[in-house]
Amino acid sequence: MTAMGKIGVFDSGFGGLHTLRNLVDALPHYDYVYLGDSARAPYGPRSSDEVYTFSTQALDFLFTHGCELVIFACNTASSVALRRIQQEYLPLKYRDKKVLGVSIPLAEAAAATTVTKRIGVMATQGTVDSEVFVREIHKLDPSIQVFQQAAPRLVTMIEAGEHVSEDIREALAVYLRPLLDASIDTLILGCTHYGLIADTIQAMVGPAITVISESQAEPRALARYLGNHPEIDTKLSKGGTRTFCSTDTTDKFDSLGSIFFGSPIHARAVVIDTVNRT
Ligand code: DGL
Repeated sequence: MTAMGKIGVFDSGFGGLHTLRNLVDALPHYDYVYLGDSARAPYGPRSSDEVYTFSTQALDFLFTHGCELVIFACNTASSVALRRIQQEYLPLKYRDKKVLGVSIPLAEAAAATTVTKRIGVMATQGTVDSEVFVREIHKLDPSIQVFQQAAPRLVTMIEAGEHVSEDIREALAVYLRPLLDASIDTLILGCTHYGLIADTIQAMVGPAITVISESQAEPRALARYLGNHPEIDTKLSKGGTRTFCSTDTTDKFDSLGSIFFGSPIHARAVVIDTVNRT
């Protein structure tokens, strides 16, 4: 059998490029297709039904463009839509395909890290409302206390190129205060975009708190998953290619996306809300 499948990486916009960069660094030989739904970002404030519908459209696009396995780099899509997709959409339309999210790897990494059993989560409103981290951490250890904080301003600020500004430090100080007051020892950055400000956050919370971001957790989780599932790994092509697609290719996607990815990218403009719809 010829290995044909690529790995799709889906995000609401370009934040997931930071995760892709770490996936590519750790597992460079696979072929990756990145899809950012920038035309409809942010997903954080959207309803669950909207996030579910948009996520199924992204899957239709990626699966019809040669992907065998798709990773939801978007925390909001992982938290709000993934379970329903795995239970309803895949069995209906893509029985042999796999979709993985970022919530479980982050929860596992945090649960394995905390000593005081007090974990903080900073994420979008949608992710916080889904309580996915509370649920997944409690499956691993019900005695862990989870403190959540929605940080709705951060995505907009980072997208405005303010990731190194004084304003973002001020916003962070407000969002981090309740988590610091809760004496957490581990902090989950439950949003694609926060990886870009992980160093600032680490400096602000101090060395006693371990900051965990998806761009660290996801490559380890994918390597472990493929190691445990050689039948899937053999289906994946290993040509080392990277393809970038955006529903809204603008100079901004390429320029800010290049910062997230760590090297220049050029995205192809694609339409996903008409692909393969029934
Ligand atoms: N990608 C989203 C996430 O990780 C952040 C941006 C958005 O709200 O769409 O939750």
